[in-house]
Amino acid sequence: MKILIVGTGYVGLVTGACFAEMGHQVICLDINQEKIDLLNQGKVPIFEPGLEEIVRRNKAAGRLEFTTNYTYGVQSSLFCFIAVSTPPQEDGSADLRYVKQAITQIAEQMDSYKILINKSTVPVGTAHIMTNIVTNILKQREANIDFHVVSNPEFLKEGDAINDFMKPDRIIIGTENSTVSALMQELYAPFNLNHDRILIMDVASAEMAKYAANAMLACRISFMNEMAGLCERVGADINMVRKGIGSDKRIGYAFLYSGAGYGGSCFPKDVNALYALGRHLDYEMPLVEAVEKVNFRQKQVLGEKVVNYFSSRGGVAGKTIAIWGLAFKPGTDDMREAPSLVLIRELLEQGAFLRLYDPVSMEKAKEMIKKTPQIHWSKDEFDAAKNVDAIVLVTEWKQFRFIDFNRLIPLLKGGAFFDGRNQYSPQEMASRGFDYYSIGQRPLIAKEDFVSK
Ligand SMILES: NC(=O)c1ccc[n+]([C@@H]2O[C@H](COP(=O)([O-])OP(=O)(O)OC[C@H]3O[C@@H](n4cnc5c(N)ncnc54)[C@H](O)[C@@H]3O)[C@@H](O)[C@H]2O)c1
Repeated sequence: MKILIVGTGYVGLVTGACFAEMGHQVICLDINQEKIDLLNQGKVPIFEPGLEEIVRRNKAAGRLEFTTNYTYGVQSSLFCFIAVSTPPQEDGSADLRYVKQAITQIAEQMDSYKILINKSTVPVGTAHIMTNIVTNILKQREANIDFHVVSNPEFLKEGDAINDFMKPDRIIIGTENSTVSALMQELYAPFNLNHDRILIMDVASAEMAKYAANAMLACRISFMNEMAGLCERVGADINMVRKGIGSDKRIGYAFLYSGAGYGGSCFPKDVNALYALGRHLDYEMPLVEAVEKVNFRQKQVLGEKVVNYFSSRGGVAGKTIAIWGLAFKPGTDDMREAPSLVLIRELLEQGAFLRLYDPVSMEKAKEMIKKTPQIHWSKDEFDAAKNVDAIVLVTEWKQFRFIDFNRLIPLLKGGAFFDGRNQYSPQEMASRGFDYYSIGQRPLIAKEDFVSK
């Protein structure tokens, strides 16, 4: 089947590549010429495990094309997906500017019946806005062309996006038209062989389901972070509490980790957009509001721990600190709303010197972090640790899980370790000579310092 994907970012490129992999004929379109040029050279502008291989294979097979040309893209396709960004506005609500631009440009080029599918995360009512835009443009063009607008929210996770798209928990299709529903099911049939994953519903519920899912997940994280703060104050261990509640089938183990706060392009903006939607309708949403409030506070916790630790040791100014992991989570180079940014800003302001390292997001991080001689960009976690007073682990990349401490310890000047993701055993870290601080667990101060301390 012939598919156009408008917006070739994390969602658009993964969607296009996966549809092509299943044998569909796909055109990925973007207004960013540089991005399209790179993709036409076989280079993938984002880091997403497995994506580059699928893009190359399907491009070589002629199933996947990249263009900036709307006329070509629209007129070659029956299904036109929109996967452009919906960033937050000043008041937290979703900025629909790119969605409106994309649907306008599609409508201007439509020459025959099209199914217009929205994959961007948008507030309820957006499909209706899209329908009005297309209707008005077709009227102005005096073009008598039929079309349907469908809501098909995307639930993939960066870092595991291919797997999520290929084997989704569910595929939500929002349409009230049975012919369109049948065509959409045919389109997604290759992803639906193992068992039925397709949920057909009305457009408003489909649009709402995406926000509700992200708010629910963010809520679990904020809940655990709030519990972690209390655990620290009462001497309980959040890891034990996590196991204690996760074993309850009604709760389950997934998404119960406390840490440095959630980031990324979705949770913060979607929670805010949902809250803004409620406010717009004069409907109070104290729970959703609290989810974001707790997260705001949590992003500052690591910085506070570091500053407190050094306050009785001459202050953090002039100290050198390694930061391991910058991306908002492992498996991605996405730096949007990353907790590391809050920590880095705070420590720079306090006068610390930072040695930063992330396995994949260094380039994106350099674009977002101010240039200053206080920062050294390191080549790996060991380079970052050279002569530092403390290490702060912010993103739990797998390569940090099993550290060669015999190699690490001689590099260090001081023995403070702030683990923002509870990756290590406090007892083991203390027995190695670290003053070990984590989230929701009592800090363990080493009885004996290691030699270089
Ligand atoms: N990133 C995720 O993990 C994820 C997961 C699920 C849903 N979503 C939602 O999907 C949408 C896209 O997110 P993303 O992370 O892929 O964004 P992104 O910023 O990575 O990509 C968006 C792309 O759209 C392009 N674009 C903007 N206006 C355009 C236009 N008029 N015509 C053609 N291209 C245009 C941009 O140049 C960019 O390449 C958002 O609404 C987001 O909330 C994202």
